[in-house]
Amino acid sequence: MEFWESSFIEKQTMWGFEPTDSAILTNDFFLKKNVKDILIPGFGYGRNAKVFIDNGINVTGIEISKTAIDLAAQNGLDCNIYHGSVSDMPFEKKQYDGIFSHALIHLLNKDERKKFIQDCYDQLKPNGYMVFTAVSKKAPMFGKGKQLDEDYFEIMDGVKMYFYDTDSIQQDFEKYGLVECTDINEPNKHMKGKPSINFMMIKCHKHL
Ligand SMILES: C[S@@+](CC[C@H](N)C(=O)[O-])C[C@H]1O[C@@H](n2cnc3c(N)ncnc32)[C@H](O)[C@@H]1O
Repeated sequence: MEFWESSFIEKQTMWGFEPTDSAILTNDFFLKKNVKDILIPGFGYGRNAKVFIDNGINVTGIEISKTAIDLAAQNGLDCNIYHGSVSDMPFEKKQYDGIFSHALIHLLNKDERKKFIQDCYDQLKPNGYMVFTAVSKKAPMFGKGKQLDEDYFEIMDGVKMYFYDTDSIQQDFEKYGLVECTDINEPNKHMKGKPSINFMMIKCHKHL
């Protein structure tokens, strides 16, 4: 079975319901920019969607795990979530004011990342913003497991991760309106005492 589906079956709402710091920051940013309708690829069970919904933003999700989608519904998240892989984007002919995707892009290989960034950009309205968080080379698991390609490792069975730094972000996103790239450490809010993970927050603006 696919890694994420079996993880959600076994561990259910494994990160709790507190949003990540990157979701809180992005929600504040989206409110300032009058973003009202967003897409969340790699939706999970919706811990990050909630902060946007609670602030009046309309949310649509894409999620590969059916169990995660069921967990979202069981926990009262009432939004449209497409069940499938981001590799099959677009799921509809629609453009959004904003896109937020936490901790998904680094799970994709080189070609998949390229297609994902392009597909997100295509689903963004002119003047829209897309924000991705990706695990950084500063993260504790960088270099662990079997190396598959440059900065790309199978850190455990079934989990392949690409580790970004500012150079690779510049390379992958410069054509897509990259405006900002910042380090952000995400604490493990659910299991206090566990180390935080170093992410990079990537912000792009689709110019008019
Ligand atoms: C590290 S988790 C983060 C979940 C969520 N963004 C959060 O912060 O709570 C990665 C999520 O992406 C989903 N996922 C992994 N590969 C995917 C793919 N190719 N297409 C869509 N979703 C995917 C997983 O099932 C999982 O929910």
